[in-house]
Amino acid sequence: MRGLLTLKDLSCDKIIELIKYAIKLKKGFRISYPDKKIATLFFENSTRTQYSFQCALMNLGIKVIDFDTQLSSIAKGESLYDTVRTFEALGVDGVVIRHSKDRYFDELENIKIPIFNGGDGKANHPTQSLLDLMTIYEEFGKFDGLKCCIVGDISHSRVAHTNIEVMQRLGMDVYISGPEEFNDNSAKWIPFDDAISQMDVIMLLRVQFERHKEKMKMSVEEYHEKYGMTSKRVEKMKENAIIMHPAPINRGVEIADEVAECEKSRIYKQMTNGVYIRMAVISDALDGNL
Ligand code: CP
Repeated sequence: MRGLLTLKDLSCDKIIELIKYAIKLKKGFRISYPDKKIATLFFENSTRTQYSFQCALMNLGIKVIDFDTQLSSIAKGESLYDTVRTFEALGVDGVVIRHSKDRYFDELENIKIPIFNGGDGKANHPTQSLLDLMTIYEEFGKFDGLKCCIVGDISHSRVAHTNIEVMQRLGMDVYISGPEEFNDNSAKWIPFDDAISQMDVIMLLRVQFERHKEKMKMSVEEYHEKYGMTSKRVEKMKENAIIMHPAPINRGVEIADEVAECEKSRIYKQMTNGVYIRMAVISDALDGNL
């Protein structure tokens, strides 16, 4: 299948190439595809991924078809496959899809146009990971040997699962931390306050209450006290260490209000980089390389 479904499909060299292309675009390099049309199909809520894909498409001169799941024939029982097959038949040049089902794209094998995965269930969020990696690369100029701890609701997080796999492949030393009930053993476990003083990157996650089958065992106040990034914890971080978060953020839960935009936070830079990394991915696919 064409496009970008999972980062496991990309070699480390290809990932670095895409990051360098995104940095070139960020510095002002322009390329345009004025005859192309791409549809964005979001079956789950999204602010950053949906609208940064749309900004990326506009920056590339591509016409955006903003699919409305509520007004579409999905409500009449049409399948995902038949919906995407319809866009292909209409002459659309690619689709961006977010869906709550893990690996929804397995049922789209016969689709020939590029599919850009905007997140599938708890499994993959490839462009989020690429923008995270771009932000780390801009900061440190390398991946090998960097220590990163991903903190929070690991078991429900496609961002954690995608990043752990690719960061390890790129030579990073990856840990997880947070409440034991979210530990799915997807990386080495470290107590949060040990991670604070040892890591180059602390990546916080939102508690994904909407995906929980059972209520979290602690209150949000207790969560903030034990696992929240507070000003006191920021003071204990290494001098050049940074704070990341895929967002949306819950100020006062996983991150204190005043820390969200502190000097060590790269949260809004991640969002900016998301536009350029998505431009790079779409451009590379339309050039026939993805
Ligand atoms: N980081 C992220 O995927 O945010 P949205 O859910 O707002 O797209």
